[in-house]
Amino acid sequence: MYRTHTCGELRLADAGKTVTLAGWVQRTRDLGGMTFVDLRDRYGITQLTFNTDSDATLRETARSLGREFVVQVTGQVIERQSKNSNMPTGEVEIFCAALNVLNGASTPPFTIEEETDGGDELRMKYRYLDLRRNSVRKGLELRHRMAIEVRNYLSAQHFLEVETPVLIKSTPEGARDFVVPSRMNQGEFYALPQSPQTFKQLLMVAGMDRYFQIVKCFRDEDLRADRQPEFTQIDCEMAFVEREDILRTFEGMAKHLFKAVLGKEINEPFLRMSYDEAMRDYGCDKPDLRFDMKFIELTSLVQGHGFKVFDDAELVLAIKPTGTANWSRKQTDNLIDFVKRPQVGANGIVFMRWAEEGLKSTVDKFYPPEQLQKWADATGMQKGDMICILAGEANRTRKAMNELRLHLGDLLGLRDPWNFKPLWVVDFPLLEKDEDSGRWHAMHHPFTSPVPEHAHLLESDPGAVKANAYDLVINGTEIGGGSIRIHDRSMQEAMFRVLGFTDEDARYKFGFLLDAFEYGAPPHGGAAFGFDRWVSLFGGRSDIREFIAFPKNNAGRDTMIDAPSRIDDIQLKELGIASTTSR
Ligand code: AMO
Repeated sequence: MYRTHTCGELRLADAGKTVTLAGWVQRTRDLGGMTFVDLRDRYGITQLTFNTDSDATLRETARSLGREFVVQVTGQVIERQSKNSNMPTGEVEIFCAALNVLNGASTPPFTIEEETDGGDELRMKYRYLDLRRNSVRKGLELRHRMAIEVRNYLSAQHFLEVETPVLIKSTPEGARDFVVPSRMNQGEFYALPQSPQTFKQLLMVAGMDRYFQIVKCFRDEDLRADRQPEFTQIDCEMAFVEREDILRTFEGMAKHLFKAVLGKEINEPFLRMSYDEAMRDYGCDKPDLRFDMKFIELTSLVQGHGFKVFDDAELVLAIKPTGTANWSRKQTDNLIDFVKRPQVGANGIVFMRWAEEGLKSTVDKFYPPEQLQKWADATGMQKGDMICILAGEANRTRKAMNELRLHLGDLLGLRDPWNFKPLWVVDFPLLEKDEDSGRWHAMHHPFTSPVPEHAHLLESDPGAVKANAYDLVINGTEIGGGSIRIHDRSMQEAMFRVLGFTDEDARYKFGFLLDAFEYGAPPHGGAAFGFDRWVSLFGGRSDIREFIAFPKNNAGRDTMIDAPSRIDDIQLKELGIASTTSR
């Protein structure tokens, strides 16, 4: 037997027992007469001691242990002289009688402790060492717990977990496909699923009634903190449901997760907001509702006073970061620099403060005090407040104001990661127009149905059609989304036509689904939730890589195994792909 206990479980009550432990050497301290070794495994750290009473060779071996050596020790549990209340095993130590070095270790490239000196690249290259760190391991434990609770909840609701294939045909979700060449069908390619969307719909046609899967999805798109090229969804579908049934079911799942994983009871229903309202009040379709700071439109109020920036603007918006009238010039200049960054894209900010001396704006020469008073009334300003005003083309201004609002939320400490504000965003437009090509795109995906009252407008006035779709947003992150699907062949064909597919194209790409709709497709709908995002939300971090065992970097590389990589010419030849590089 390699061990009788783990390194995390011995307590004072175990004093006197002879135990065997195995693990990694966290560190060794040699204090002349005493040698201490911290032994670590997944469960914790236990202190080992050797002193002048120990066998001389044993002590010598203990002294020579390097960091991350793998050892096995046998000894007696004794009460510690100086206890460490910061660790669960801190009241005991093992007085060792035998020490067996199971394997040596080179000096690790970074310290394997809570706070590491390893930069991002180094940690990812040696991810197997990074994963020995407590905080990273805890992330995976959280992920495991959440997966179990998802399965518990959905199983209790009669959902069946069904695996769908990975080598498939393109399922469009708005990204590029990763493709896999077929050796047996030369010149042809599989696509990896961007989601199991079409398969889960076919499972509904198959009468599975309620399906779920915790499943890998693949999308070749630009990466950032909350996006990986391969990520995991909690993917779900239900037959014989309306939007309300779906929202109720998954609101239930979210509440179950909050309770079971974080111990947070949420009794009130989740807020709901239409897409139009979200865009008007927050300038984005995933508003962070941990703080208010809604947009206030001032366009008509401020125009016609000779200030060109406002007069020429399509939209003038204000927000009110409460209690900031005393911010310094430097602070407001920083805000201006922030909005001028290309990612934000505004030209500047007009400020108005209500300080001791009354209302004071940066454009006083255009606006007499009674005008400024109107701005103050419109924004509900109080003494001590300041408002920030942006002006310009409507969409750009909303987008910039959204960034400014979030930035102010950060500066004012209004975005506490442990305060959760879930929200359903509903009534999305079904389609959006690509201004360059003039073509319609599905805002969600092409299988989303219009709200019933707009179905007849699909081909005559596509831009006016609302989708029977919904997103779950928590703290400004899109956690998931879904829709009631089209289950009627002719409507699905009409949808493909609106999206610019020829009938032939639609048949080539989605003939299987259109055919399936001929054989008794029940009304159905569903949703998928970004599992990595949800775990990182519950873990209080914004980078989903912290909760993925072996993530990829922002260039889509796994630097540990060095992938992607070239393949041999022989392999290329077998696949019928010409070699593009000579080596
Ligand atoms: P959607 O494309 O909105 O919907 O994806 C569902 C959720 O998956 C997460 N997500 C991602 N997470 C990490 N990295 C990525 N690259 C990434 N892309 C998406 C998000 C998102 O909300 N089939 C539909 C769902 C349905 O209609 O049922 C779909 O995939 O949290």
